[in-house]
Amino acid sequence: MLAQRPPMGWNSWNTFGENINEQVVRDTADAIVAKGLKDVGYEYVVIDDCWSLRQRNEEGRIVPDPKKFPSGMKALADYVHSKGLKFGMYSCAGTRTCAGYPGSFDYEFIDACTFAEWGVDFLKYDFCYKPALANGPILYNRMGMALKASGREILFSACNWGSDSVEKWIRSAGAHMYRSTGDINDSFDSFKNIAMSQVDKLAYSGPGCYNDIDMLIVGMRGKGNVANGGCTDTEYRTHFALWCLFQSPLMIGGDLSKIDETNLELLKNKELLALNQDAETRNPMMVRGGDRPIFFKHLENNEYALAFFNFTDRDGWGDIEYYDLGLTVASGYGFKFRDIFSGEETGVTFGHFSTGIKAHDCRILRGTLVKK
Ligand code: GLA
Repeated sequence: MLAQRPPMGWNSWNTFGENINEQVVRDTADAIVAKGLKDVGYEYVVIDDCWSLRQRNEEGRIVPDPKKFPSGMKALADYVHSKGLKFGMYSCAGTRTCAGYPGSFDYEFIDACTFAEWGVDFLKYDFCYKPALANGPILYNRMGMALKASGREILFSACNWGSDSVEKWIRSAGAHMYRSTGDINDSFDSFKNIAMSQVDKLAYSGPGCYNDIDMLIVGMRGKGNVANGGCTDTEYRTHFALWCLFQSPLMIGGDLSKIDETNLELLKNKELLALNQDAETRNPMMVRGGDRPIFFKHLENNEYALAFFNFTDRDGWGDIEYYDLGLTVASGYGFKFRDIFSGEETGVTFGHFSTGIKAHDCRILRGTLVKK
C-alpha cells in the first residue's frame, strides 16, 4: 500500500519550470543518492509540467519532447530505477496542462497505460483547463481508476489547489496526496500563509492520503522558477519544520547540484523527519494561534512534540500553560523535553513553559510525560 507515511522526493517545477530535460533528471537522481538524501527517505524523482510536445500523435498518445528527452521516458525511468529511486511524471485533469501542453481529459486510460509502459511510479495531476461542466471528484476518480487499471502501482498526487473543498472527497477518489493551496514561492510570507491556511484541515491527512502543502523551497535562495526574494537559513528551517510537523509530503524543489551544506543538512535533519514520518501519523493541534502559534503533537512511543513559532519581525516569547494541553498541576505530571535542534534537555517542567524565540524562527521540543 502506497503513502502509509507522507511521500518524499524531488519535483522539477520550483527550480526548473519549463527548462526541464533528461540531464537535469539524471543529475538530480545522482545527487539524491550521492548527497545522502536517499538514505533518509527521499525516493520519488518527479518531472513536472512542460515535458511533452504540444500535440498528441496520431494514436492519441502524449509524446515526450525529443529535444528535452532524447533518450525517451522509458530509458530515463530505467536510469532512475537503477539508482534505487522511483520515477514520477505530471499531467492534468483538463484539456491542457497549466503551461499549455496536452492534458489527460478524455485520454485518462490511454495516458495511464502510457505512463505504466514507461515505468512511471508517481503521477502529479493538475487542474488547469478543466471544462466547467466536468467536476473535480469525477475527473480525479477517473484517473484514480485509470492508474489502477494500468497494471502498475502508481502513486496518485492530486493538485487542484484546494478547490471544491478537495479534502472532503479526494481520498475517496484514490489519491495518495493532494495539493491544498495555491503555488508556493520562495519567500517567508508565502510558506507561512500556505501552512497556516491548512491548520483546520490537517485532520484529513493520514495514512494513504496526505495534505500536500506544496513543494519545498528549502535552499533555493531566491533563484529558480518560483523566485521571490528568497529566505534566510532561519526561515528555511522554520519552513521545513512546519512541513514536517504538518505531515506534508516532502518534495524538494531546489537545485540539488547547487544546494549549500546548511540546507542540505536541514533536508536530512533526522529529528524533523521523524516528526514527519512518525508512525502515529497524528496531525498537530494548535494550542495558541496568531503570529506566535504553538502546536502540540502526539508521537509514537508515548512521546510528544511541542513547537513554538515566531512569525513576527521581532524576537519574542512563546508561553504555554500546560493546562491548555489538558495537563493540570494537580495531576502530578510534568513534561521532560529535549530541544530537537540543540539536543539540550529542559529538565522536568510543571505547569507552564516559556521560551524566547527569535523573529521568524521556531523552537521544537520533544519529550515525555513524567510523574513528580
Ligand atoms: C500549477 C501547479 C504547480 C505546477 C504548475 C505547472 O500551477 O500548482 O505546482 O505544477 O501548475 O504548470
